[in-house]
Amino acid sequence: MGKDVIIACDFPSKEATLAFLDRFTGKKPYVKIGMELFYSEGPEIVREIKKRGHKIFLDLKLHDIPNTVEKAMAALSRLDVDMCNVHAAGTKEMMEAAVRGLTREDGSRPLLIAVTQLTSTSQERMQEELLIDEDLDKVVVKYAQNAREAGLDGVVCSPLEAGKIHQACGSDFLTVTPGVRFSDGSKDDQVRVTTPAGAKDLGSDYIVVGRPITKAEDPVKAYELCLSQFAK
Ligand code: C5P
Repeated sequence: MGKDVIIACDFPSKEATLAFLDRFTGKKPYVKIGMELFYSEGPEIVREIKKRGHKIFLDLKLHDIPNTVEKAMAALSRLDVDMCNVHAAGTKEMMEAAVRGLTREDGSRPLLIAVTQLTSTSQERMQEELLIDEDLDKVVVKYAQNAREAGLDGVVCSPLEAGKIHQACGSDFLTVTPGVRFSDGSKDDQVRVTTPAGAKDLGSDYIVVGRPITKAEDPVKAYELCLSQFAK
C-alpha cells in the first residue's frame, strides 16, 4: 500500500485547479483537496475531479463531538473520496466514530488518517498554551498509537517522524508526509524538509507535495521527478 505522490492542490478556485490538472495529459496524479478549495467550491469540486479519474485525499481535519464527526464522515464516504482525516486530539472515541461513519454497507471505506500535533505547533506553545507537559515527539507517537487503536490507517506526520511511528505502530501503519522539497528548490514556509528520495529512505508511505509542483515552470516534469525519486 502507498508509495505515491499526492499533489496538494492549494488553489483558490475550481477554474485554477482544473486548468492545472489539464496539463497532466494522460496522467492521473493523486490530488489533495484542502479547506480553501473545498469551502470555496463545495462537494462539487470533489465529484468533478473524481470524474476525471483522480484519487482524492480530502484534507478537512475533522475535530468535533463523536456523533457529529460520525455523520460528517458518512457524508464524505458517499462523496467517494479515497482518503480523509481527523485530529487525533478528538480522542479515540471520536476516531472510532469517524471509522463507523466512513464504513459503507458493504464494509468498504476510504482510508482514514489522523493529524497528531500540527507541525506548526512548537514544543513551547504546546506546553504553555495547551498545557501538555511532555516531549512533542512522545505526544506525536502516543497520538499515532491512539489512532491505530481506534482502527485508523495512519497519520499525517513529518518524514522525520515516519520511522518512529512505524516502530511504535507497525510498518503497515501509513505515514503521509508533507514538508518535501527538491534539494535545489525553495523551502517556502516549511522548516524541516526532506527531498522525495530522503522521504523514501525515511519510510514515508505517501508524500504530499504542493508548491514544488504547483509553482514549477513545468509542473508535469516536477511531478515526474518526485515520482521517480520517491515511488520507483
Ligand atoms: O506547498 P507545500 O508542499 O508546502 O504544501 C504542503 C501541503 O501539506 C499543504 O497543503 C499544507 O497545508 C499541508 N500540510 C503541511 N504540514 C502539515 C499538514 C499539512 O504542510 N503538518
